[in-house]
Amino acid sequence: MPVDMTHPVLTTLESVLDTARPLTSGAVADYIPELAKVDAESLGISLVSSRGDVHDAGDSDIAFTIQSVSKPFVLALALDEHGLDEVTKHVGLEPSGEPFNAISLDAETGRPLNPMINAGAMVTSSLIAGATADEKFAVIKDGLERFAGRDLIVDEDVFDSETSTGDRNRALAYLALSTGSLAASVDVATAAYFRQCSVAVTARDLAIMAATLATGGVNPTTRERVISEDAARWTTAVMTSCGMYDDSGTWMVNVGLPAKSGVGGGIVAVQPGQFGIGTFSPRLDERGNSVRGVAMLEALSKRYGLHMLSHRGEPHSPVGSLRSEEGRTVAELRGEIYFAAAEEIFTRLTPLMNDDGCLVLDFSNVTRVGLAVKELFRAVPQLVGETSSGQPRAIVVDPDGVLDEA
Ligand code: DON
Repeated sequence: MPVDMTHPVLTTLESVLDTARPLTSGAVADYIPELAKVDAESLGISLVSSRGDVHDAGDSDIAFTIQSVSKPFVLALALDEHGLDEVTKHVGLEPSGEPFNAISLDAETGRPLNPMINAGAMVTSSLIAGATADEKFAVIKDGLERFAGRDLIVDEDVFDSETSTGDRNRALAYLALSTGSLAASVDVATAAYFRQCSVAVTARDLAIMAATLATGGVNPTTRERVISEDAARWTTAVMTSCGMYDDSGTWMVNVGLPAKSGVGGGIVAVQPGQFGIGTFSPRLDERGNSVRGVAMLEALSKRYGLHMLSHRGEPHSPVGSLRSEEGRTVAELRGEIYFAAAEEIFTRLTPLMNDDGCLVLDFSNVTRVGLAVKELFRAVPQLVGETSSGQPRAIVVDPDGVLDEA
């Protein structure tokens, strides 16, 4: 019989909602008139693990427009399509320390400072394949849908409202065009960007999209690879430095998760390798970040130590046991071996590869080896050579071929 127990993660998310609910400061965005029509009290949060488990609390299935939360995902699509070198010919990677709609172009290159402010985001949208706004948006929508794992629709009323009040964005796009950064006409780039901002999503969609960045580009609910691992890492890096506009530095200290906010009231946050979170609450602070969304993520991060730079204690040693067997020393290695574990193995075991005998590096219980360190291990027997009596100083035992996997 199933145990009658509320999932502790749900209890956690609900307590975080309770922390945020009393906060009534801030205001719903109204510079795009249609945005002001949302229910200011809506409050939701979802967390999706990198295995694809979904945990929803509160209004996690109420639709709202994605707005600037689209920026990292469209950046990811552009990076996936063109690579970092090409994208950075058009837009920089430096935090601007300025509001989202600032006139912020690099004095030397003329590029918008980063892809998270509007000027840079319109440049990113202009880089997406397609000659017309419709063609570009079709690629963007398809990409956002693969990130979310479901079909999405455009809120046409918000789109119309955004288009009719978008002169500041047009002005920013003209500036980016004048410096050679914009890769399409102003009309094409702004129309694609306005449509991308008007896509309707839920907090659950945002959590799945964030989890897709957390896994290095594979949507954990559909198992589809949406973007390359490189594109996911580059995007998460930009979110880390620029995702919360002129609050990004304070955010990284207090919350410590790469994130992106939007004036629709959504925030995405990524814990690389572990999970994604989506929050929704429409009232915004003066920087355009959701007041309750920030409070929820701060509370979660502080209570559960989610800061990505938290010290997590000493890792397990990769050397499981050292034993003597038929005149040889056998080092049984274990777990996942990346650079730091390889450093420990070489530091501890190299002195044992001496003239008195042979060291066996046994990889039978190793589950994974980092790409770059594989080569180091494969080269060991040759590097340390033979004893004066012609015996190998080191032998690598790798029955499952973990050192051979690409
Ligand atoms: O560019 C704009 O004005 C909006 N469509 C998106 C801005 C946004 O979400 C800024 N984020 N906090």
